[in-house]
Amino acid sequence: MEFKGNHVLSVNQFNRDSIQKVFDVANQMAPYALRQKRTTVLDGAILGNLFFEPSTRTRVSFGTAFNLLGGEVRETTGMDNSALAKGESLYDTARVLSGYSDVIAMRHPQAGSVSEFAEGSRIPVINGGDGPNEHPTQALLDLYTIEKERQYHGGTIDGLHIAMIGDLKFGRTVHSLSKLLSLFNNVKFTLISPSELAMPDDILARLENAGHEVKVTDQLEGSVDADICYQTRIQEERFPSQDEANKYRGKFRLNQTIYTKHFQSKTVIMHPLPRDSRADANELDNDLNMNPNLAIFRQTDNGVLVRMALFALTLGVDNIVSKFDRAVNWYSNKSQS
Ligand code: NCD
Repeated sequence: MEFKGNHVLSVNQFNRDSIQKVFDVANQMAPYALRQKRTTVLDGAILGNLFFEPSTRTRVSFGTAFNLLGGEVRETTGMDNSALAKGESLYDTARVLSGYSDVIAMRHPQAGSVSEFAEGSRIPVINGGDGPNEHPTQALLDLYTIEKERQYHGGTIDGLHIAMIGDLKFGRTVHSLSKLLSLFNNVKFTLISPSELAMPDDILARLENAGHEVKVTDQLEGSVDADICYQTRIQEERFPSQDEANKYRGKFRLNQTIYTKHFQSKTVIMHPLPRDSRADANELDNDLNMNPNLAIFRQTDNGVLVRMALFALTLGVDNIVSKFDRAVNWYSNKSQS
């Protein structure tokens, strides 16, 4: 995959070599993210950060990643604050906004919208989530985290057993992550969701055609011999009504007792976040916060490294980041989470 000057719209663009390339560049970004050094390699560059759907960590970490490389960020949030609310097409919006920056990160509630926008764009567009469809940068940061956690436990992504739990129908993060994992060897998937919220058939077919073992169930029962437990939120904003979504709230909670009952003591717990911590949902209980296998904040930190890597690659500066670095002036003792 040629990164320079190109869009990042779907995980389908990636193979194992291009994933490795992203990970190699991400590894080099740690001193900057940890504020041990600063680089101005993107001095003068502008990121258009367009978020037409709610977001905290994806939006802020795209912006942070760009700032950490020395660039500036222009942000548009919410449909109501843009001319899309006046009926402007995605194509026209893209023609206009791509004249104002060097790269665009975009999130939008409709599946396929970011690709449609990219057709009108004169600069690279990175998909920050298009409805229930895809979330390629989240999948890359999840996979990066899985690789690090596996290395810590002396394993690899090949041969991994992952349990995915919750809303597997509307959860774009599990769609994109499953597709990336299908590129590896002998991955075992245990997919646990209410049957109405099961993983879409096309993704199941892709996993099976690639020779992976897939178990689909609507119960978390017995001992799940998984290396990773990937919990998700019920994507209530994608349901026809709040009442529909409420039917599934709290169905698959995870707390220390449930974890101990069903998982190994070394099973790594992941979640793309936000976790729904309201009492009737509580899908990832605070009593897991001190569990060393809870990797959710390692995921969010890794998101900055992976997004820095994607910007550096897309803008063709991945080989010269350190040429433009220097020590920081301020006290910095930031640690990895
Ligand atoms: C996810 C998303 O927006 O798809 N969050 C994220 O990007 N970190 C998952 C979610 O909202 O539940």
